[in-house]
Amino acid sequence: MRQTERLAADAAGLARAADILRHGGLVAFPTETVYGLGADATNAEAVAGIYAAKERPSFNPLISHLDSFESAKIQGMFDETATRLAEAFWPGPLTLVVPIAPSCTISDLARAGLDSVGLRVPAHPLAHALLQGTGRPVAAPSANRSGRVSPTDADHVLGDLDGRIDAVLDGGAAQVGVESTIVSCLGGTPRLLRPGGVPREAIEALIGEKLGTGAEAAGSSPLAPGMLASHYAPRAQVRLNATSIRPGEAALLFGPSAPQGVEAAQAALNLSKNGDLVEAAAHLFSYLRQLDASGAATIAVSPVPETGLGEAINDRLRRAAAER
Ligand code: TXA
Ligand code: MG
Repeated sequence: MRQTERLAADAAGLARAADILRHGGLVAFPTETVYGLGADATNAEAVAGIYAAKERPSFNPLISHLDSFESAKIQGMFDETATRLAEAFWPGPLTLVVPIAPSCTISDLARAGLDSVGLRVPAHPLAHALLQGTGRPVAAPSANRSGRVSPTDADHVLGDLDGRIDAVLDGGAAQVGVESTIVSCLGGTPRLLRPGGVPREAIEALIGEKLGTGAEAAGSSPLAPGMLASHYAPRAQVRLNATSIRPGEAALLFGPSAPQGVEAAQAALNLSKNGDLVEAAAHLFSYLRQLDASGAATIAVSPVPETGLGEAINDRLRRAAAER
């Protein structure tokens, strides 16, 4: 348990909130849609803390919040359509999924390992001030525990997360109450991934064509939210619950004990030597990527406990093992 501070919507509260975020802490803050649970998006361990606090059983790519379109352009690449959408609807309840820019600093975990990134410039004045003060992209899903409704005031946030986060910036009631509209601009016709605060019609009127759907982007099978086909999958086969390593395999380890045969591994990385699941979550995507790049045909993965963040880690690993 930590002590959750309730911060007032004034200069001192904003300065404290920005300071906590810059030091890797978790701060819930108001946006015009719902309260977000924010962490420094460039700090994978801070982002892992979001999942731990929410008890979210899987890793979805998170939306990173920025103070301006200028800041967003450091993180993502905006084609002509994405630029028009950003100029028309930012600041506001629209999230754009765009390819990452070479200068992107948003962590692998916040992107769930993808080469694209969800970006949004919120209109709420407190959110804007906080983002300016923090000076970094802030990853923020809704500030509720997994499976509960999205919070629209500070009391809702505390009802779910008191003792699990460092602070909530109390800015009164959020206005829109539904999350941002998510549009992906990854080339071709932009696609509506989630309806939300900006109506589809307003977007279609601006771009002069109908939005595609998320399901189309994913192929023929309908998708549950968060089950995007675009989820990062390694090229190598993934072998789960490996208690020994076969010659030539790459090894993704967890915990202090070295499995049999690890000396002959093509490459080996330990998610967390002392068995810390938050640290393990923070390393998951970048280590999978590094082991994949080793060229090994198979990545053998040590057992990871199903407790706490282990559930989300195992969910992601099972999908990596299944997706072909
Ligand atoms: O209104 C909102 O958008 C709120 C407030 C706090 O800003 N935030 C929010 O964030 O709802 P979040 O992180 O829960 O949204 C996650 C969703 C994912 O489930 C996915 O649909 C989409 O954003 N998303 C983010 N990055 C993506 C990417 N690279 N590719 C595809 N979808 C992405
Ligand atoms: Mg939510």
